[in-house]
Amino acid sequence: PPNVGILAIEIYFPKRFIEQAELEQFDGVSAGKYTIGLGQTQMGFCDDREDVNSIALTTVQNLVEKYNISYKDIGRLEVGTETIIDKSKSVKSVLMQLFTESGNTEVEGIDSKNACYGGTEALFNALNWVESSYWDGRYALVVAADIAVYATGPARPTGGAGCVALLIGKDAPIVFDRGLRGTHMDHAWDFYKPDLSSEFPVVDGHLSNACYLKSLDLCYNRYIEKLIAKEKIERPTINYFDYVLFHAPYCKLVQKSYARLFYNDFVYNAEDPCFKNVQQFKDLNVEESLQSKELEKAFVEVSKPSYTKKVLPNLLAASKIGNMYCASLYACLATLLSNVSPEELVGKRVGMFSYGSGLASSFFSFKVIKPITQIHKILDINNRLNSRVKSSPEKFNEVMRIREESHSKNDYNVVGDGTSVEEAFFEGTYYMEKIDAKWRRFYKRR
Ligand code: ACO
Repeated sequence: PPNVGILAIEIYFPKRFIEQAELEQFDGVSAGKYTIGLGQTQMGFCDDREDVNSIALTTVQNLVEKYNISYKDIGRLEVGTETIIDKSKSVKSVLMQLFTESGNTEVEGIDSKNACYGGTEALFNALNWVESSYWDGRYALVVAADIAVYATGPARPTGGAGCVALLIGKDAPIVFDRGLRGTHMDHAWDFYKPDLSSEFPVVDGHLSNACYLKSLDLCYNRYIEKLIAKEKIERPTINYFDYVLFHAPYCKLVQKSYARLFYNDFVYNAEDPCFKNVQQFKDLNVEESLQSKELEKAFVEVSKPSYTKKVLPNLLAASKIGNMYCASLYACLATLLSNVSPEELVGKRVGMFSYGSGLASSFFSFKVIKPITQIHKILDINNRLNSRVKSSPEKFNEVMRIREESHSKNDYNVVGDGTSVEEAFFEGTYYMEKIDAKWRRFYKRR
């Protein structure tokens, strides 16, 4: 089928957030560490009334209602998540409740897991299906959902929560570039969740940053090689893309990553006039280049004007919600589609980098070929972010404590954070009421 890509997109994020500047004070770290050092302004969080099932239910139901889709017309449903609440039962199977009324049970797909990469795997599975002999003409729905929480310490301010759903099919306005994916997979212990009695990961933050940047190098260059072969062109640079979207654990890493792409271009063509002030880095090998703070700073400077135009605006949700793990890259996509006018986006090519610790990573791209007026209108991210409710670091801390204590309990009635359902959730949000003696979870919708 022609033009396989995204037909509709919906995002969900928590209604409550805290200010990172207040968290700096509460945590007793130097002012600016989270806001400037990490580039995060706010962080969204969920109390024990929300879990990965509830945020996925909310996002799927909202997408179906807002775009007036029939559950009968969905032939594949893929979920990417690393928020594991059951070692066997998939989130996808929980979402099948939404299909009951339609009578449609012929829905392929199941959950994919590898840190923040699961959503990308889910997307690739959906695209591959629509392009395959097994496709039956119906839509595929991709759900990327996570609640990102860390133990107290340096990683805690890089939490967040969110879910993005993408409706995939033919004749789409947002079309993925066929045959163009640069992938790198490897074995690393940078971030993992071996303790099933805890929601928190074991994380070596600095190693995870290093793995992320090294993966970006490899994926970008593999993508570029495929692009050269496919289009029979000279080696293009980052200027080939009108926008670039990244998995965003925290925004400062994204800025460094974009700078790193300029460094990769520099390695191939140091003679480009834009690199006249960074010639001193010409003779470094790859390892040295990854270690050098001076190089990082210099390329952040070189790439800054381009970063401000092509990357920074897409980080609005990421900077105000935080890491959404699997949903993070797709929240940047939603921000782009929501914030740039639909007319201006037509004809634009967008690069995407997905990274999941452990590790799995890919660089891929799409082009917008038609105005996406409906998507733009429905997303409305600015207004939705602005209609959230501010909470305090004290309350956030208490909520984290309750989540920690209640994790994997049965016979459990939710505690919440003292707010009513109306205060705590946007209209249309699913929330959990209880977990019974057999660990079965029960949800309601606001
Ligand atoms: N004002 C301005 N900047 C400051 C201040 C301040 N007061 N204090 C510190 N900074 C800067 C530092 O100089 C540093 O900048 P740099 O990165 O350019 O060197 C930055 O803030 C962070 O400070 P660090 O001391 O390096 O931070 P720390 O080691 O405490 O934690 C980390 C940062 C490792 C990212 C931690 O938050 C973490 O582990 N997060 C989770 C892991 C993660 O997100 N990894 C990314 C990819 S994997 C994934 O998606 C899960």
